[in-house]
Amino acid sequence: MYLTSVKLSNFRNIGELEMHPNPALNLIVGPNAAGKTSVLEAIFYGCTARSFRGAADDVLLRQGADVCRIELAGMIGDSSTAIEIAWGSAHKRQIKVDGVKITRVADLFDYFHAVSFIPEDTELVFGSPSVRRKMLDLYLSQADRSYLSELLEYNRIITQRNALLKEFTIDEENASPLEMLEVWDGQLAAVGAKIIAKRLAMIAAIAEKIAHYYRTVESGESLLRWSYESSAGDNAGGRETFLDKLLQSRRRDFYFGSTSVGPHRDDLMIVLNDRPTRDYASQGEAKSATLAIKFAIFDYLADRLHEPPLLLLDELSSDLDYTRLAALTKLLPKLGQVFLTTTKPAELLQGASIQGEIKIASGKLIS
Ligand SMILES: Nc1ncnc2c1ncn2[C@@H]1O[C@H](COP(=O)(O)OP(=O)(O)OP(=O)(O)O)[C@@H](O)[C@H]1O
Ligand SMILES: [Mg+2]
Repeated sequence: MYLTSVKLSNFRNIGELEMHPNPALNLIVGPNAAGKTSVLEAIFYGCTARSFRGAADDVLLRQGADVCRIELAGMIGDSSTAIEIAWGSAHKRQIKVDGVKITRVADLFDYFHAVSFIPEDTELVFGSPSVRRKMLDLYLSQADRSYLSELLEYNRIITQRNALLKEFTIDEENASPLEMLEVWDGQLAAVGAKIIAKRLAMIAAIAEKIAHYYRTVESGESLLRWSYESSAGDNAGGRETFLDKLLQSRRRDFYFGSTSVGPHRDDLMIVLNDRPTRDYASQGEAKSATLAIKFAIFDYLADRLHEPPLLLLDELSSDLDYTRLAALTKLLPKLGQVFLTTTKPAELLQGASIQGEIKIASGKLIS
């Protein structure tokens, strides 16, 4: 898949911008605060209806403007597709695909797909488990449509279960909360086990790729591994093990008024040379590890979608020395449509064959 046109209106510092990228490697060049990351963010938003910086819609709306609009057009397989997303201070967000309004955000996941890398993504290595869960959920949702529905269903049950846990105490005479809880537990374990199984399958499917990409960037013998740590027990047991865990933690859950086990509490363990990256990785190692994970996910999505997704890479050069950067740039031409931002173009030109250069300053294209 690739984009042939990106039109933005009142997105971040961008007033009006229209660009026609080429299907291969596009370099977005400009000084700090020009709007480079914002262009990538808008493309990502057009694919997933969310910001890769985790920004709320009103933050994305250009200050002082009424309506923000993102329009993407391009090819998915053999068919041309157009996405339009608009929202404003007094307008609810509206998403259109080929001119037709869609009501469920999940339906947008049938069209353009994107893998992004921004410098803040090293939070994957250093940040809290929720950062890693969000990343897994985002890319699994892109790879597998039913995953997103399962996740929404799971979250719905958790909310109801937690409301029940808050409302009652376990020692209450009345047995009906327990009966209700058992209903929620059965449903939670069924859908939760599916989520865990899918996460495990993805993690296993790309484990070797992660090690491979890490070695490509670091050109050494270092070994990057990752594994899933489930709070719901060993997943070989699936639904039954999860149910057991829910039962074991019931007293605690009533006490705290929340559900302490399940995929919403799970984590990913990322390990470099047998040391958890969270405690030991250097900035450069963290960046290489995060990039290795993103490139591996890119391959995974390309495989699942039967064509490469868009690849959005923000400030590849910061924190990476010259050798590592050169190793990375050599990979880029093979990856379908790539958008690469930089403040320093010369550094990136070696090894990568740049097809199109988009120059930007103060939110505007410079011709
Ligand atoms: N809602 C908004 N309205 C107006 N301006 C905004 C809004 N959100 C962000 N900005 C501004 O947009 C500018 C561009 O931000 P962006 O992160 O895209 O820059 P950049 O080109 O990636 O810069 P850098 O090289 O420093 O990463 C910044 O000056 C930022 O403060
Ligand atoms: Mg930036």
